[in-house]
Amino acid sequence: MTGDDDDDVPIRVDFRDPATARAWIEDTRIKRPYRPRFFAAFCAALSSRSRLRILELGSGPGQLAAEILGRCDVHTYVALDVSPAMHELAAGHLGDLAARVNFVTRDFREPAWPADLGTFEAIVTLQAAHETRHKRHLVPLLERARTLLTPGGILLYADHYLTPETRLPALAPAREDQGLALERAGYVAIERRHDEGNMALWCGTNPVAMGPGR
Ligand SMILES: C[S@@+](CC[C@H](N)C(=O)[O-])C[C@H]1O[C@@H](n2cnc3c(N)ncnc32)[C@H](O)[C@@H]1O
Repeated sequence: MTGDDDDDVPIRVDFRDPATARAWIEDTRIKRPYRPRFFAAFCAALSSRSRLRILELGSGPGQLAAEILGRCDVHTYVALDVSPAMHELAAGHLGDLAARVNFVTRDFREPAWPADLGTFEAIVTLQAAHETRHKRHLVPLLERARTLLTPGGILLYADHYLTPETRLPALAPAREDQGLALERAGYVAIERRHDEGNMALWCGTNPVAMGPGR
């Protein structure tokens, strides 16, 4: 790795700008037609669990939230995003379901982001973890997320991985490094649940601590 590779990648798309946020939604609908299959894979991974307290990191326009709230047994849903503009779009997209969502405006690049959020049976994140602006921040993000999970709770993490065409390699771990990042962050039973469009959905479980003598 060169010295430059260690630098955070400057933010080029500012999702706090309402016009940029709206343009991203339309652009993504056209460029990433496979996203509904990721939504389905998230829901399938959550389907055997009930009364879930869920935290979404980088929740954006609420598309994943709408699918999960519509298809899974959700007790509470916290949508965390740095952009008030995205939260506003999400509220519009969710309609009546928005009343079941607690929108939190917070920056997950700040180490204290987990403070006072509560605990969750599941943490989900789609196409957002790279917004830490460097892949070396992935393990710390996932470690901090794990502090909010109940024992046996799961993390569902999906994002793009490195390919020869990747424009900003500092943002995209190799596919096997995505799974390794979960392991390094302390998750167990790591599985790749979906893989399409140079993006993988990974599931990891927060270990259940064994008592003495077990
Ligand atoms: C590419 S969009 C993906 C949105 C959503 N997860 C989806 O797939 O529909 C990235 C999202 O991450 C949010 N984001 C960017 N930097 C963030 C940060 N430092 N903390 C929290 N959210 C952030 C953006 O506002 C945006 O909503």
